[in-house]
Amino acid sequence: MEVKTSLLDNMIGVGDMVLLEPLSEDSFLENLRKRFDHNEIYTYIGSVVISVNPYRSLPIYSPEKVEEYRNRNFYELSPHIYALADEAYRSLRDQDKDQCILITGESGAGKTEASKLVMSYVAAVCGKGQEVNKVKEQLLQSNPVLEAFGNAKTVRNDNSSRFGKYMDIEFDFKGDPLGGVISNYLLEKSRVVKQPRGERNFHIFYQLLSGASDDTLKKLKLNRDFSKYNYLSLDSAVVTGLDDAASFRTVKNAMQIVGFMEDEVQSVLELVAAVLKLGNIEFKPESRCNGADESRVKDKNDLKEMCELLGIEQTVLERAFSYRTVEAKLEKVSTTLNVAQAYYARDALAKNLYIRLFSWLVTRINESIKAQTKSRHKVMGVLDIYGFEIFEDNSFEQFIINYCNEKLQQIFIELTLREEQEEYVREGIEWTNIEYFNNAIICDLIENNQNGIMAMLDEECLRPGTVTDETFLDKLNTVCAEHQHFESRLSKNSKFLNDHSLPHSCFRIQHYAGKVLYCVEGFVDKNNDLLYRDLSQAMFKANHSLIKQLFPEGNPAKVNLKRPPTAGFQFKASVGTLMKNLQTKNPNYIRCIKPNDKKAAHIFTESLVCHQVRYLGLMENVRVRRAGYAFRQLYGPCLERYKMLCKRTWPHWRGPEREGVEVLMADLQVPTEEFSYGRSKIFIRNPRTLFFLEERRRQCLQDLATLIQKIYRGWKCRTHFLLLKKSQIVVAAWYRRYAQQKKYQKIKSATTVVQSYTRGWQARKLLRELKHQKRCEEAASTIAAYWHGAQVRREYRKFFRANAGKKIYNFTIQRIMQKYFLALRRTLPSMSPIDKSWPARPYRFLDAAHAELRAIFHLWRCKKYRSQFTEEKKAVYEEKLEASELFKDKKSLYPSSVSQPFKGDYLEISKNPKYHKLSSCVEEKVLLADVVNKINRANGKGASRILLLTKKNVLLADQKTGQVKASVALPDLASVSVSTQNDGFFALKLREGSASAVKGDFLLSSEHLIETITKLHHIGSTASDDGVRLNVDITDEFLVQFKQDKVCVKFIQGAPKNGNGASCKRKNNRLLEVSVPATA
Ligand SMILES: Nc1ncnc2c1ncn2[C@@H]1O[C@H](COP(=O)(O)OP(=O)(O)O)[C@@H](O)[C@H]1O
Ligand SMILES: [Mg+2]
Repeated sequence: MEVKTSLLDNMIGVGDMVLLEPLSEDSFLENLRKRFDHNEIYTYIGSVVISVNPYRSLPIYSPEKVEEYRNRNFYELSPHIYALADEAYRSLRDQDKDQCILITGESGAGKTEASKLVMSYVAAVCGKGQEVNKVKEQLLQSNPVLEAFGNAKTVRNDNSSRFGKYMDIEFDFKGDPLGGVISNYLLEKSRVVKQPRGERNFHIFYQLLSGASDDTLKKLKLNRDFSKYNYLSLDSAVVTGLDDAASFRTVKNAMQIVGFMEDEVQSVLELVAAVLKLGNIEFKPESRCNGADESRVKDKNDLKEMCELLGIEQTVLERAFSYRTVEAKLEKVSTTLNVAQAYYARDALAKNLYIRLFSWLVTRINESIKAQTKSRHKVMGVLDIYGFEIFEDNSFEQFIINYCNEKLQQIFIELTLREEQEEYVREGIEWTNIEYFNNAIICDLIENNQNGIMAMLDEECLRPGTVTDETFLDKLNTVCAEHQHFESRLSKNSKFLNDHSLPHSCFRIQHYAGKVLYCVEGFVDKNNDLLYRDLSQAMFKANHSLIKQLFPEGNPAKVNLKRPPTAGFQFKASVGTLMKNLQTKNPNYIRCIKPNDKKAAHIFTESLVCHQVRYLGLMENVRVRRAGYAFRQLYGPCLERYKMLCKRTWPHWRGPEREGVEVLMADLQVPTEEFSYGRSKIFIRNPRTLFFLEERRRQCLQDLATLIQKIYRGWKCRTHFLLLKKSQIVVAAWYRRYAQQKKYQKIKSATTVVQSYTRGWQARKLLRELKHQKRCEEAASTIAAYWHGAQVRREYRKFFRANAGKKIYNFTIQRIMQKYFLALRRTLPSMSPIDKSWPARPYRFLDAAHAELRAIFHLWRCKKYRSQFTEEKKAVYEEKLEASELFKDKKSLYPSSVSQPFKGDYLEISKNPKYHKLSSCVEEKVLLADVVNKINRANGKGASRILLLTKKNVLLADQKTGQVKASVALPDLASVSVSTQNDGFFALKLREGSASAVKGDFLLSSEHLIETITKLHHIGSTASDDGVRLNVDITDEFLVQFKQDKVCVKFIQGAPKNGNGASCKRKNNRLLEVSVPATA
């Protein structure tokens, strides 16, 4: 069940003054103070919220608080401004009633803060979404912009609003914000040129100078030093707790969010700078011929800079400060201005510039935030207007401000009473009128169209002839003298004649909030609010779009000779419209109270608060509320709260709610005069009755608590007992089960034992029988097997015994051989006769066969090889073979000849023409033709000869002439001798007694010794008739027959020499020594 809370829970003092008992001014103040001391700054009077400024931030505006107050009834939680905002928002959304939030109080009481809190609460609880959030953000961000331009530090408030602001926030049917409209009321423009002691000019000037970048300042031709500007009073330029530079950034950011363009912001800042510059323009008198003084600008630098900033022609503005043109119907009269008038004109221009800029800002913001759709809106208006003010010197501005506050008080009184009364009528309750102070009479004194103060002032301003502030006061003195609330020294009312607190130039009004002394000086001027036409025309001519817009009346094409309406008249009219607007809406009041004059936290100055309580009429407010009925509540919630006080309504009442409440009241025996039944609510006259009900409820709640406790305890014990009981049964059941199980298992195991013994005995018996049977069967089969074996052996003996072993052996051998040959076929080496490889034998017993096969294979491949040879090749090889047989291992020259092919005819004798003659002498085919050296036997030197070998002869011819020197028939050749060494010497020995032997043997040396001798040996053998072979002697010492003598040719081994020619030397008659160089 949802916990219902109430305003009455945990209450400090009383949250609603209506419940105050006893009600007196003292108890009222005491209650406020008590709550203030406990940080409870909000207190209700019925649905009116009193807010006491705490002058410090309290942790009561967090998002959690917003959630707490969201959608809760007004009296459900402790008093808070959020409760009021929630109530207003919900009745706007759910009951379709336009709302207005009226925030009143003195300057510095917290109105502006309150208005921001209401707006932020509504923003937090209303719909969400991108578009809606943008609207909300723009609405909220309009505040910093307007505060920068319209707020200033005053002695009462560091952030005092110097203009009135009424903002209509528009919502659609779902309660989502659509946009807003801001109306502003009379900015206190005199502040631009002059500020009272201890106060500042509008924030924006200080923010611009502190917060703008150097670059921006340079562009605006400004200096950061406040003291450079006449319009900025110095005594409180810096305010503790205000960071002007940071605020400037906030303002610029806010302007961007609201939708100001970059150049618009720049134009605004230029205007602000221009106002500062304007303040620095000073004048000096210049005498003229007619004796009058004419004003001249003293130092033209500031004027120049200002004109540059705004794009104004300097001479035009300068002239406007020295002359004034008055246009009347058809004439134009130009008069000069003296210094005082010039200063007046300058200040008027500054004020006008600033106030028009401010109005433009409001219009511009409205353009941004206005609702985009034309559909019907619901509206919530928030009014935050300057508070009631009493200064030391009060002038026209205070008069206007205080008038506005009077009007608000009036509307409060009217609407509070009317609403109260209407409710009684609506609910059908009898109602008698209540007395209260109505300030309508004061409003009348000020605004009456015939003889009100404002009407008088206007009349004076329009009157021809000399008009001064004094003539205005005179007029008041005659017209208002009799008024109760008007006091003046010179009025016809003689009771003030000796009142010295009332100076001659002043009048005093008894406002609802106190007496205020107004000094008439400046009233007429300020009401007239004149700006010389020359100045507005100069402004219109400016080459600056914003300035031009602000001074439309300067347009020479639209000269309007009619007087503009006075400031007072305009204000009265706009206040009138505002009041009418407010009256159409459902009002919600926040009445702000200032606890002290020091702007300090924790201080509660009783006299000050008392004064405010009095003039705000709060006591009357409570009384009115109580004279009717102090407390009212819808039947439903009332029954819900108190139903436990009566047996018939507790715990549920099934009938209509009103009847339930009636039964309840009757049962409680509340005297009938103490309450009334309305149509939907019960009205309780006296707070005591409510407290009685609350007290009974508290007791009853205690009893109920005890009852709940009792039942709970009983329930708890019984539950515990039941649990124990249930547990016991469970335990018992488990135990029984366990015991039975045990017993069963015992019997079961005994049975099993008996059973097993019996079965064992039976089984053993069976086993014995089976074993016996099996043995019998086995014996029978063994006997049968033996018998069969004998039978079979007898029958098949003859088939075994023969050469099984040999057959197997042969077969195996065959198989092995087969395998061997097949393998050999695969692994045979190549067909090259010089290939020495041969596969390994697989079995040792194949050794001999293997070697034989290798030899056969070799022979076979040699034969194959040979069979490829042609006849010539065969002859060549046979020759080579013969050479081998002759020389191999016998002569060391032999190995080098093996690789050289035997060419035979080295000289190509038949083809070469050189040897033509020689070849023609030889009849047979030349088998060898080569150049040899014939060794001279006298000195061993050689001479070149051509050696020709034919089938029958050996011829030696001269190499040059080709003439045959010697011819030996082959049969005459006995033998050939060569050495064992590496030389080419050979001796041809002739048969003794033959024809050729006459000249003796030949000792020759040839490059192709092996070939020559081989051929000689071969042909020599075939040529001999008897088939005797030519001898070839290989020895290192042999004899050669030279003609008669025999000479021994001896070969010795010489030292190795370059070139391997052997040298031959004749040692003596009988010895020819050939030195053969050793082969390296
Ligand atoms: N609810 C609040 N909580 C904290 N400080 C507050 C509150 N209301 C007002 N103040 C303080 O009081 C100062 C004056 O409040 P402000 O709303 O500007 O007064 P007013 O608009 O009535 O002249 C604020 O600047 C702020 O410091
Ligand atoms: Mg304010």
